[in-house]
Amino acid sequence: MKIIILTLLILLFINFTNSQSNPIKIAVISTEKPNDLGYNFQVNDAKVAVEKYFNLSNIFYYSAIDKTKSEQFIRDLCEDGFKIILVPTLDYTTQAKKVATSYPNVQFLVRGNNTVTNNVIHVNYNFVGANYITGYFAGLVTKTNVIGYIQPGPKSMNNYPGHAFYYGAKNANPNVTMYWYTTGSWSNPEVSGGATKKLMEEYNVDIFGQTQDDMTVSITAVDQGHIGMGTNGFDQQKIFGDKISFSYILNWTDCFKDFITNVMAYPDGNWPGRSNGYGNFDNTFMPVTFGRKVTPEIKQKVDDHIVYFMNLGLLKAPFYCDDANKYIFSETLLNSDGCILPAQFQNMTDPLPGMTWLGNYSIPITLREVPKSFTYGFVIASGVLIFLSLILELIIWLNKNRSVIRSASPVFCELIVLGGIIVYIGIILWTIPPTNALCNARYWLVSIGFTILIGSLVVKNFRIWLIFDNPELKTIKITNYQLFPWVGGLILINVVLMAAVSGAGDLSVIDAMGIDDLGKYEYMQKCQMVNGSKGTIPLYILLGYFAVLLLIGVFVSWKIRIVDIAEFNESKPIANTLYAISFSLFVIVSLVASPQYYIDQQMILCIAGLFMTTAALGIIFIPKLYALATRQQTKNSQSSLYTKKKSTIASARTSNSKNQSDSKDSQNQNHNPMQSEFTDDSDLSEVDQKLPESGQTLSNNRVFELGSGMSAIALGSDFTSDSDPNSIDNNNNNNNV
Ligand SMILES: *[C@@H]1O[C@H](CO)[C@@H](O)[C@H](O)[C@H]1NC(C)=O
Ligand SMILES: *[C@@H]1O[C@H](CO)[C@@H](O)[C@H](O)[C@H]1NC(C)=O
Ligand SMILES: *[C@@H]1O[C@H](CO)[C@@H](O)[C@H](O)[C@H]1NC(C)=O
Ligand SMILES: *[C@@H]1O[C@H](CO)[C@@H](O)[C@H](O)[C@H]1NC(C)=O
Ligand SMILES: *[C@@H]1O[C@H](CO)[C@@H](O)[C@H](O)[C@H]1NC(C)=O
Ligand SMILES: *[C@@H]1O[C@H](CO)[C@@H](O)[C@H](O)[C@H]1NC(C)=O
Repeated sequence: MKIIILTLLILLFINFTNSQSNPIKIAVISTEKPNDLGYNFQVNDAKVAVEKYFNLSNIFYYSAIDKTKSEQFIRDLCEDGFKIILVPTLDYTTQAKKVATSYPNVQFLVRGNNTVTNNVIHVNYNFVGANYITGYFAGLVTKTNVIGYIQPGPKSMNNYPGHAFYYGAKNANPNVTMYWYTTGSWSNPEVSGGATKKLMEEYNVDIFGQTQDDMTVSITAVDQGHIGMGTNGFDQQKIFGDKISFSYILNWTDCFKDFITNVMAYPDGNWPGRSNGYGNFDNTFMPVTFGRKVTPEIKQKVDDHIVYFMNLGLLKAPFYCDDANKYIFSETLLNSDGCILPAQFQNMTDPLPGMTWLGNYSIPITLREVPKSFTYGFVIASGVLIFLSLILELIIWLNKNRSVIRSASPVFCELIVLGGIIVYIGIILWTIPPTNALCNARYWLVSIGFTILIGSLVVKNFRIWLIFDNPELKTIKITNYQLFPWVGGLILINVVLMAAVSGAGDLSVIDAMGIDDLGKYEYMQKCQMVNGSKGTIPLYILLGYFAVLLLIGVFVSWKIRIVDIAEFNESKPIANTLYAISFSLFVIVSLVASPQYYIDQQMILCIAGLFMTTAALGIIFIPKLYALATRQQTKNSQSSLYTKKKSTIASARTSNSKNQSDSKDSQNQNHNPMQSEFTDDSDLSEVDQKLPESGQTLSNNRVFELGSGMSAIALGSDFTSDSDPNSIDNNNNNNNV
């Protein structure tokens, strides 16, 4: 007693002198911010109490320091003139002790149990005992005889707190069984809450112990009408009232106070009875509190058990000496009392009989579906466009013999539209929830659709270019059958590249998390190349291939711009189509390259796909449909229309011709600068007959054979329609055919 009074007097004196001139600087370093209403709150609570007690204003609380930087941090504190450093957490113990060796004038209080040095004192508390007593209470109050435990599990710590809890419960109630989950972390409310719920719902657990920094486990149990326990050192009754039936409290106040008092009295650290501290039920460090609803009998039993437990002595604690330890430790490891050492107990992770480990709890993740509006929108739009395309196919087919369509090669027109339909189908697949097959089908359909669409357009105009851009004006025969292999070749290249993309790249559905506005436990399915390194090369080649195809298209459309006959000259539609596509590509590339939600990217791609396809089909076919609708199917109307558009080439060719401009020729130009017929091969004989009705000599006529049966008769011939027998002249001496 005298010593204490003396100490206090010295202390007051030092305090007085110090606080006036050079106030002592004290640092408290803890794991987290003090607002966790748990361990760190208690540490800060003690700091505040000590501040008040000593009338100090120079105690600082530091937290959440990166472990790798903590040593330097503590070093800096020492350099800064801090004289007392309190580290009540194992997280920074090693680092603090390392720094302590270089700053003998700074006094350290660290968590743990090791040799006392001149400037380091350790403090620990009966953590295992706290779990044991909590378990004892749980065993007394459980109604289902099933208890639960939530703890971080190995890597953070071994599972021994759960073992201690189970031993406590078993000593109170031999009938209990225990289930436990590991969470892999000290604080993850979603995981620990989910684990708690699952234990309650599926395992009939009605009371929980926990080793977690936060109170989620107890709160979740209380919310379901169960008894809660405060197991993280904070007096949880202050928040939850009587819903918390039992708490143990970690009160660091006296621990800090004693240490600071001593250091103030003996700044060299050389005070009498200098030793490590240990918080326990029998000192002020670890009081327990009971809720109002707890019966006096249960209270009494717990209090009695605490006394019994304390009397046993640390190394003979029930959990060290329980027979069940033999399931894990061979008898040879037990000491003469039949007990294991604390270090061995803390090494325990495997369950004992009556305990079941349910594994690491992971919150079930849920699938975020593709938005219905997205799917419906595109399916409907694509569906309508497919329907219109089918009608277009039908119109083309029905009018295949009319010059508007004939000159545009009906078969290729059908192919172009077919390409469009395939793209539309691809886009529908793009917007419905993916599977591995659908992922592949998307890319296949869209790429092949575009290849057919653009490829047919390019190839058919290539033919027109070859035929018209022919200075010799020789008869050139290019049949559909000669062209199909080209289209087929283009498709084949596409197929090979796509096979490489989906084969080597292993295009498949993956579950993506953490993208878009997905919640933490939501995922989305997206198509991705699993083997990206192998798949991207053919993908880029495929894109390059499309670029080349477009460039050839541009070139051909530029080449055939000189063809003056509107029906052959598709340079404008092609150019416009290509503009539309290029424009879309620019927009797509910039939009897709910028950070986007995945779903938005998909939407941009789908809209662009729909737009490009529809624009291409529209640009190519709307003028034709218009022409079909407005132009009557009679010879005269067609003739008059085209008379105005006399081909310069045709004229040039006229003047070149051997039998120069007889009068008939110029007259005949009235009705026909050029006869054009694209017909199927079956029409061969028919075309042979379709010679100029004007009766001019054949040498005046330039008959360009576009195929066996596809003739562009350059001059002096009529635009005829097959249905018009009058147009068929019997003049068969066209030796060019
Ligand atoms: C606390 O210390 C301040 C100076 O830091 C002093 O003004 C004040 O009187 C002290 N209060 C008590 C109760 O000692
Ligand atoms: C601390 O460790 C020593 C041996 O290093 C041991 O004798 C003592 O019982 C331990 N104290 C606590 C409270 O574990
Ligand atoms: C344990 O169960 C047995 C029967 O299975 C029963 O007789 C005994 O009273 C139970 N003990 C407790 C503490 O509930
Ligand atoms: C549980 O999680 C830890 C890491 O947190 C891991 O090492 C361990 O293998 C997991 N156990 C199981 C059964 O998944
Ligand atoms: C902690 O202990 C001190 C001294 O024994 C006491 O004054 C204080 O009220 C206690 N704090 C809590 C939160 O129990
Ligand atoms: C803890 O367990 C590991 C492996 O299970 C063993 O290697 C180690 O020696 C044990 N430590 C103690 C103190 O029993």
